[in-house]
Amino acid sequence: MRMYDIIHKKRQGEELSTEEINFFVENYTNGTIPDYQASALLMAIFFNKMNKRETADLTMAMVNSGEILDLSAIEGIKVDKHSTGGVGDTTTLVLGPMVGSLGIPVAKMSGRGLGHTGGTLDKLETFKGFTIEMPKDKFINNVNTIKLAVGGQTGDLAPADKKLYALRDVTATVDNTSLIASSIMSKKIAAGADAIVLDVKVGEGAFMKTPENAYELGGAMVEIGKHVGRNTIAVVSDMDQPLGKAVGNALEVEEAINTLQGKGPKDLLELCLTLGSNMVVLAGKAKDTDEAREMLMETITSGKAIKKFKEFISAQGGNTEGIDDTSKLPKAKYIMEVRAEEEGYVNKIHAEEIGIVAMELGAGRATKESVIDLAVGIVLEKKRGDFVKKGDIIAYVHANDEKKGEKAIRGILNNYVIKAEAPKEIPLIYNVIR
Ligand code: URA
Ligand code: CA
Repeated sequence: MRMYDIIHKKRQGEELSTEEINFFVENYTNGTIPDYQASALLMAIFFNKMNKRETADLTMAMVNSGEILDLSAIEGIKVDKHSTGGVGDTTTLVLGPMVGSLGIPVAKMSGRGLGHTGGTLDKLETFKGFTIEMPKDKFINNVNTIKLAVGGQTGDLAPADKKLYALRDVTATVDNTSLIASSIMSKKIAAGADAIVLDVKVGEGAFMKTPENAYELGGAMVEIGKHVGRNTIAVVSDMDQPLGKAVGNALEVEEAINTLQGKGPKDLLELCLTLGSNMVVLAGKAKDTDEAREMLMETITSGKAIKKFKEFISAQGGNTEGIDDTSKLPKAKYIMEVRAEEEGYVNKIHAEEIGIVAMELGAGRATKESVIDLAVGIVLEKKRGDFVKKGDIIAYVHANDEKKGEKAIRGILNNYVIKAEAPKEIPLIYNVIR
């Protein structure tokens, strides 16, 4: 088999065989196929696309390029949740305890934040002593006994994806549906998921800017799941404004605690119920999402979910004082008001820019080496559709440096679009693809 022929075939718009896809992924990962040939194939795929079978084959070839986590020692159906990335997205912290408290195993591999999006691991480190470093048998034991554990991403999962993603990034071949879908799914499957619930974000703050693009991506991932025997559901949800009110690590932890106690923001709870009910159904614990929603709500009203959260934090070494009393969570020195400079309806809150403002306050990383400040961030008091009068508080900045705080206030004002007329309504949940 020659790489030249594979490139030529795809250039002509023909379908690649399983063997050809395996040959490419295997030999690109081990360094036999050079970047220039891989780039040429990626560009041919970009223009001529791949069908469902090719996309599923590419996914499994990337899964098989490295370690596949063996989580067979965990009892029950392991349902993983994955978000394509957003701002102020606190869902994992809320969903984990809710779903886990129903006896469904949640074995989560999470990453750190980079750029304008936050990472679950950083948020969890708000609890002093909390660690994701643990031997595999402890991780498995925690999932079996507590039903919830969060570990770090190991370096050896889907190495082919890592290498190809880096190449796509510099060859203008990232935004192809098959390539994105296989990239995301390969990592979830290698991480041991039996079933997968995807939160495909759409809007300005997301990868997918239009609902049509998001449906296409969600549909492609559901198809991959079908082909490779992993039940997959994709929820397409809004990321045209940050989720919930809080953006920042300790602030989002506090928001998660509030939500687990039934006093969180409505949009965050609603998204968690939608994602969570699909997880519960995939795990085989409810006959439909209506029943699953009721079960999930009960974990909040009965106090089971918050108790589960505490148990989980404690099992991974974290101090749980801040759960009983959120005033014990890391606090910023300055809490600064952001007041509206005009009257009208909030039409837009530029999500990505708000993420960047939070990052510059110290809540996120500009580079991999940046040290984050757990206490700082933003709390949005007004969201899209709200009416504000001049001088009303629209947000608070939590800062440890007054100058940075002043800059953040400016940044927030620049990214709230206030107009005389009300905005047209955007749904929180666009669609659920099964
Ligand atoms: N996220 C991924 O993991 N892969 C892509 O290709 C795009 C977004
Ligand atoms: Ca939030």
